[in-house]
Amino acid sequence: MIRSIVRGIGSALPRRIMKNSDFESVVETSDEWIAQRTGIRQRHIAADDETTASLGEAAARAALDNAGLTPADIDLIVLATSTPNNTFPATAVEIQNRLGMHHGFAFDMQAVCSGFVYAITTADLYIRGGMARRVLVIGSETFSRILDWSDRSTCVLFGDGAGALVLEADEGQGAIADRGILAASLRSDGAHKDKLYVDGGPSTTGQVGHLRMEGREVFKHAVGMITDVIEAVFAQSGVGADDIDWFVPHQANKRIIDASARKLGIAEEKTVVTVNLHGNTSAASVPLALSVAVADGRIKKGDLVLLEAMGGGFTWGAVLLRW
Ligand code: ACO
Repeated sequence: MIRSIVRGIGSALPRRIMKNSDFESVVETSDEWIAQRTGIRQRHIAADDETTASLGEAAARAALDNAGLTPADIDLIVLATSTPNNTFPATAVEIQNRLGMHHGFAFDMQAVCSGFVYAITTADLYIRGGMARRVLVIGSETFSRILDWSDRSTCVLFGDGAGALVLEADEGQGAIADRGILAASLRSDGAHKDKLYVDGGPSTTGQVGHLRMEGREVFKHAVGMITDVIEAVFAQSGVGADDIDWFVPHQANKRIIDASARKLGIAEEKTVVTVNLHGNTSAASVPLALSVAVADGRIKKGDLVLLEAMGGGFTWGAVLLRW
């Protein structure tokens, strides 16, 4: 059977790093409050010349280099983002053009922080359905542009960045020992749409708007939702927490990551944490965390890797793959 294997990975971060202490002149907060509640120490913030498209392009080029491929080898670009360069066209199309790619097709996916998990699952279906052989799956965000910089309860939590994978069709045995994407579970429930949202848009205010969040409400639901989709993926694949080599969760908050891992029985030393370095980069957080753990030699070919994310909507999902 056809499997979607990871052929390459890359990432890109804005040049400017903003440390927690840099917020002390912006809002009434402290390094101690931010670090204790979230685990965040710093985040990257895009300059005027850095956009979701430019960061996505840089991550895509890095992933192509890592794969030993060029844009000519790609059939499809799926970009997960909630901070597109423009309302339309899709920022994926802009990245396609920046890459000098004028064949194939490209589109954006909007599932907020779960965007990358939705995008990789979608790319897998295009590959297994035979419509694409190689897909660039990108998560790229500039959340700094939709933050209310006077709201201390949200502006300290997010950062900018991009990560990308090249997925490629491969022949598998239909067994758990196969490389590639092995199982996935996606969920959403719009009953929670007012707990984490942007208060503007083309069809309502005509303005971009700012991010609004009931942090406690998000926290309350996060662990249960995350563990539910992971248990669904375990049931589909027949693997359990002990079989996982690496747990790469959405990097929103260290307390949510720790509580989810504890509830699932996933050992702390198998959990990849980068929220301290990047803050919450929404759809970019999972591929950024993956790229850190691949670059430092933790994730190796053949390892069983569990991804999860949860975000605005709410949306949530999990993916099991063998690297
Ligand atoms: N610095 C100092 N004090 C602050 C700050 C800040 N940056 N922000 C809020 N406070 C204050 C509040 O005003 C409040 O003060 P009060 O008691 O005088 O009213 C106090 O701290 C406690 O506020 P809470 O919101 O109750 O703090 P809590 O312990 O819940 O932590 C946090 C807030 C970190 C946002 C937490 O709720 C959380 O992590 N929620 C999940 C958010 C999240 O991860 N969202 C993203 C997931 S989905 C996605 O990725 C898009």
